[in-house]
Amino acid sequence: MQMMKKYCTLLLLISGIAACATHKQVIEYQFPTAMSPSVKAQYADLCAQGAVLYDRHCSGCHNIKVKGKTIIPDFTEEKMNGYAIRVANRTHEEHMPDSLVSAEDLGLISTFFLYKKKNAAR
Ligand code: HEC
Repeated sequence: MQMMKKYCTLLLLISGIAACATHKQVIEYQFPTAMSPSVKAQYADLCAQGAVLYDRHCSGCHNIKVKGKTIIPDFTEEKMNGYAIRVANRTHEEHMPDSLVSAEDLGLISTFFLYKKKNAAR
């Protein structure tokens, strides 16, 4: 029994490491050059929070795979459209209730998209 327990722990550990490795993705941002370093640091922090929320609430439906690489779409401010994005389509109406994605969360996700470096043309 003890042996079995050890084996299971090891297996969990390995799969955990593998999951982390596949999830790891470097996201680049593009801030206005006129932005001061301290303000930039604040926005970088907001973007990082937005990235986590995007990954949790949106990426499952919106990330695409191209040649094995995960691509996060470039959603414009216009597309994000504040509150309206919640009810933009039936899927969103069902999957994006305020209880799951708060107004603040949506704001952070919008900030993330505002400054995320745009994807290269494919
Ligand atoms: C359960 C699946 C699902 C989830 C979760 C989801 N979406 Fe969507 N989303 C859709 C579908 C379906 C559409 C409409 C078809 C399309 O344009 O891809 C859409 C459309 C959009 C569009 C318009 C895209 C365009 O090019 O016009 C934006 C922006 C968007 N979603 C943002 C988000 C954000 C931000 C989240 C997370 C907070 C999210 N979605 C979560 C399924 C989903």
